[in-house]
Amino acid sequence: MDLVRHGSDDGGRVNSPSRETLLRENQDPEEDGYAYTHSNPMLKSVFTMMFARNTEEAQRSIDGQPSYDRLQTSPSRCPGGRDFRIVLVLTPFSILMSGLALVFAGFLAYCMFGRKENAVTVQENGVGRLPFMGYNTWNAYHCDIDESIILETARLMKALGLSDAGYDHVNIDDCYSEKKRSASGDIVANKQTFPSGMKSLTDKIHKLGLKAGIYSDSGWFTCQLYPGSYLNEERDIKTFQDWGFDLLKYDNCAVPFDEVIKEGIVGKYTRMSNAIAKLSKESGKPPILFSLCEWGREEPWLWARRLGQSWRTTGDIEPNWNALASILNENSFYSWASDFYGYNDMDILEVGNGDLTFEESKSHFTAWALMKSPLLIGTELSKATQQTLNILKNHEIIAINQDPVVGKAITPFRWGINPDWTHNRTHPAQYWSGESQNGTIFMLLNVLDEPADLFFSLTESPWIRAGRQYAVRDLWSHTDNGTAVRNLTVHNVPPHGVVALLLRDDGDEPSGTQPPCARPEWCMDKDGTPGW
Ligand code: GAL
Repeated sequence: MDLVRHGSDDGGRVNSPSRETLLRENQDPEEDGYAYTHSNPMLKSVFTMMFARNTEEAQRSIDGQPSYDRLQTSPSRCPGGRDFRIVLVLTPFSILMSGLALVFAGFLAYCMFGRKENAVTVQENGVGRLPFMGYNTWNAYHCDIDESIILETARLMKALGLSDAGYDHVNIDDCYSEKKRSASGDIVANKQTFPSGMKSLTDKIHKLGLKAGIYSDSGWFTCQLYPGSYLNEERDIKTFQDWGFDLLKYDNCAVPFDEVIKEGIVGKYTRMSNAIAKLSKESGKPPILFSLCEWGREEPWLWARRLGQSWRTTGDIEPNWNALASILNENSFYSWASDFYGYNDMDILEVGNGDLTFEESKSHFTAWALMKSPLLIGTELSKATQQTLNILKNHEIIAINQDPVVGKAITPFRWGINPDWTHNRTHPAQYWSGESQNGTIFMLLNVLDEPADLFFSLTESPWIRAGRQYAVRDLWSHTDNGTAVRNLTVHNVPPHGVVALLLRDDGDEPSGTQPPCARPEWCMDKDGTPGW
């Protein structure tokens, strides 16, 4: 893939002046690097002077320290500065009234602070600050699971270096239980497939330094018709905690009829969220991480962070490009919703499955990670190729997903071949950016079935500063690829391929860069001369 940055090749937005070629690092376009060109005509002196003046002014204001000695503390006084004294006359009536006043004040304080504290406890309760990572059995095995598969998976997570890369959960999906509850009403692990029992299994998983996840459903049954937890929320979450699980995925099948349930999906999921909070309080153990799975039916991105740490936004994933493109398209409209302690869940990864090409798998992994989805491996690990493992272990991509400073996901800044905000299942948004602790992240997707050149002006992203240049890091080739000024073009991106870049501020752009404003239509000179 050739990555070429141009100073003025912006599809008509910027004039095309004379160019000076800047070739700094990795400039051979034949290699997997960038060749950079940027515009450098004479800068009009009026702009030079203006720039210098503004820089000086800016520097002065940066250098100027806030003056604290002008701040004074003034002792609080009664109006008029007079002293006063409270005289308390103790009579049975005054004692009764004081008592009542105290009770009332206590009640008020509880309403104002006590309840609020509870709400915060649910949302930011110490678990799930970052998107969780791990393994889920569904995509690879569906219902064909047993304890030896789970244990083997856990061992392979260690042996293949996946746990070191951050994948620390082993999550069991649907089909692990008996079809009927016990006589006393408890969910029972399937006696054939999980003969050693769940506690023994989670003990072994924990001994490997991993966490364990389990699955249930907010309705009468799971999607494969095993017992659901509706009306058994407190009982079941206790069972899961006793079994040693750290995470619960909670599905949305077999919803009770309206006259029974008398509430919507929000209410149904609130029941389990409350049960988790109550159990945590009573047991003194950390709350079980709550992963809601209602496929985006009732806009969970608006309410689910009050209840849990992630929520599925879309229907079930499949290992083909059309399914991935459709999930990407839908998530482009609400990727803003992810942040610490609450994330859009774009579903279990299909990397290593079906007929996904290498480029499609990279695009899939990049998009899921940079959009801050939980990252759950969903391929059979004993058969995983080195290529699959390399994709899953891309530490620079994972670092963005797990950024401890920035919880927000990338969002599209331009849709590309479609007008902005177009809903298109097969051709989702192409140009995405977001913040990270180390700089601005860009994701460019070639949604076409043939190779394409992808181009953007840096300041199309809100996270880029005008007048600055940026050092470019390629998160797939793991190379530093020189410095971008104003624009960046990536040539020959393969069909359904991805480019993931980290742009770091590298100081002022070269003086003389033209035009004087990257967005001439937005700018005006101090003397009123329009920039366009
Ligand atoms: C679906 C869910 C899948 C899987 C399946 C199990 O509703 O989206 O991820 O959990 O149920 O039956």
